[in-house]
Amino acid sequence: MKFYTEEGNWDLVGNNTPTFFIRDVHNFTGLNRAVKRDPHTGMRSAQNNWDFWTMLPESFHQRTITMSDRGIPVSFRNMHFYGEHAYSFYNEKNERVWCKFHFLTQQGIKCLSDEEAMKINGMDREYHGHDLYDAIARKDYPKWTMYVQIMTEEQAKNHYENPFDITKIWRHKEFPLHEVGVLELNRWPENYFAEVEQAAFTPAHVVPGIGFSPDRFLQGRLFSYGDAQRYRLGVNYNEIPVNRAKCEVNEYHRDGYMRVDGNYGAMPAYTPNSYQYWMPSPEVAEPPLELEGAMWRFDPKDDPTDDCFRDGGDLYRLMSEEKRQILIDNTARNMNGVTDNIKYRHAVHCLKADEEYGTRMTKALMLDIDEVRRLAKLDNAGLIAATMPK
Ligand code: HEM
Repeated sequence: MKFYTEEGNWDLVGNNTPTFFIRDVHNFTGLNRAVKRDPHTGMRSAQNNWDFWTMLPESFHQRTITMSDRGIPVSFRNMHFYGEHAYSFYNEKNERVWCKFHFLTQQGIKCLSDEEAMKINGMDREYHGHDLYDAIARKDYPKWTMYVQIMTEEQAKNHYENPFDITKIWRHKEFPLHEVGVLELNRWPENYFAEVEQAAFTPAHVVPGIGFSPDRFLQGRLFSYGDAQRYRLGVNYNEIPVNRAKCEVNEYHRDGYMRVDGNYGAMPAYTPNSYQYWMPSPEVAEPPLELEGAMWRFDPKDDPTDDCFRDGGDLYRLMSEEKRQILIDNTARNMNGVTDNIKYRHAVHCLKADEEYGTRMTKALMLDIDEVRRLAKLDNAGLIAATMPK
């Protein structure tokens, strides 16, 4: 989402789940390679997919969401959106709170079964595009209510787990949703290339009052999107009409391919200078971030509060019997053809999350429950060692 505010553009680059598969930015390339095409066969591979996911216990919550009925929404209109990471709000007194963004669909959550999705995919490969286009064309504008969750800096310090770990949620009972407004989609782009393909979104685009958080995964994303966009659209991608702020924004960037707007004329190029050009605006700067501990990749071994299975287990316990069965069936179907060592890893994670989830998954995957229980007593390194291919 791109908000053209009076103080510049704010992009919220989120997803339709509240969490993510990974929390270490270095695993992002691996995630993409595991879900995309295999270098040998040139085809997608459930084996690669599940091997990667089960090597990372922190992906368990997201695995549970993806395999649940919510894995395939009926349409873009029938799903929620989330910012996922913790971001921050700060005011003119430099007081800061941490926040998460949620957009809950007013159309209601509706999902497809694997079977329904298979038929639709065979009949209309533009199904989601058509659905959204047609709804807007008939003036049935889809709407989402925007909410924020707020956590004070003090609460974050005393939280029972890392509040900046994207694989974990902030429980609504503890951090209630505060209503902010409504997002309505009421216009289709005039030109798909100009307004969609040339659009560039990056979590690094914020406006005064909105800032980042110590989520190391977010910190990685802050660099990655601009890099991709300089390559994809050119160094002046922020001057392309769909990306350009609707208000005057004086950024320090000059020159380069496709700079066609006068390039700040004769103004000196350097700062600091004696002429009051390119002066910083400290009044809108994000408060400094106090850090504790080592600046390093996400290393859960440093974190005794880390429990990768609590959220996935809670989600399972929240599901009705019908939804639990859909989750088990979807997973078993998805893991069809995956080798047993990897199936064991997933079944162990399910058991660690919830006794019933684990036993039902074990049965659906046709594994030996005694072996699952034996493996569940191992720590993560032990489980990985015990489930290496023979
Ligand atoms: C380390 C983690 C991640 C990295 C390095 C990363 C990087 C990227 C890059 C390079 C692009 C293409 C940008 C472009 O060419 O315009 C992209 C697209 C996207 N990413 Fe990520 N991403 C990460 C995680 C996430 C997460 C956690 C979310 C959701 C919260 C997300 C949501 C999106 C979306 C929605 C797009 C498409 C944007 C568009 O349509 O232009 N990504 N990502």
